[in-house]
Amino acid sequence: MTWVDGLLAAIAAPDEDAKAVLLAGLALPADRTEWTVPDLPRLPGRPADLRIEEHPPRRRQGLATPHGRLRFLHAIWHIEISAIDLACVACLRGAGMPTAFHADWLRIAREEAQHARMVRDLLTARGWPPGSEAVHLRLWDTTRTCADLGEHLACVPRVLEARGLDVNADLLPRVAPVDQEMHGVLHRIYLDEIGHVGAGSGWHRHWCMERDLDPETHYADACARVIGDLRSPFPVDLAGRRAAGFTERELAALT
Ligand SMILES: [Fe+2]
Repeated sequence: MTWVDGLLAAIAAPDEDAKAVLLAGLALPADRTEWTVPDLPRLPGRPADLRIEEHPPRRRQGLATPHGRLRFLHAIWHIEISAIDLACVACLRGAGMPTAFHADWLRIAREEAQHARMVRDLLTARGWPPGSEAVHLRLWDTTRTCADLGEHLACVPRVLEARGLDVNADLLPRVAPVDQEMHGVLHRIYLDEIGHVGAGSGWHRHWCMERDLDPETHYADACARVIGDLRSPFPVDLAGRRAAGFTERELAALT
């Protein structure tokens, strides 16, 4: 299977296990290989019995009760399975990029599959397996609207995933006293995600430099076009975002 066909197959595969098997078998492309970036499917692969809502209400999960935590973890499971697809899209959009770029995003896709499995196992052990409630495809839909790799790197790792850092940093101290097992899973995810957002920062800067673009200006313009309001809806995780390569000017624009 070619690199592009393999990535499309992983996106189309129905769950984290099937995606992980395909990702494990993929071989990286040679340095700066060019290809025509394919159209993305309207929907990524998901389990056949998973209910997908087009316009779900935004839910706030309280963490004080076991049921609230299950619903929150279910949302995290679907964020992680979506993150597998989004890392594959970064590779698809990375025609002409160095092999090191593809190695980073393939590793990230594999780590996202591990995250999805960790959360799935916790949900299943607690009797609320994936599919127990409906999900939405906002992450996928936003990613599809990015015009090129530069917009993708600005908006997917550096907005969508960075907001995950904000949420996680806010929750971790509150989860620790009530649910040690959930805290362990979320903490592992948080540390890995700092690396993923950091890869987004580094490769976004690389992409801009190759085109003589100022990374901060491109970031602000891309976010304005794809995301709209750049301010984070959550308390900003300044420490995590600094570790992931955000500049002080970018952080100031978030609040
Ligand atoms: Fe993840």
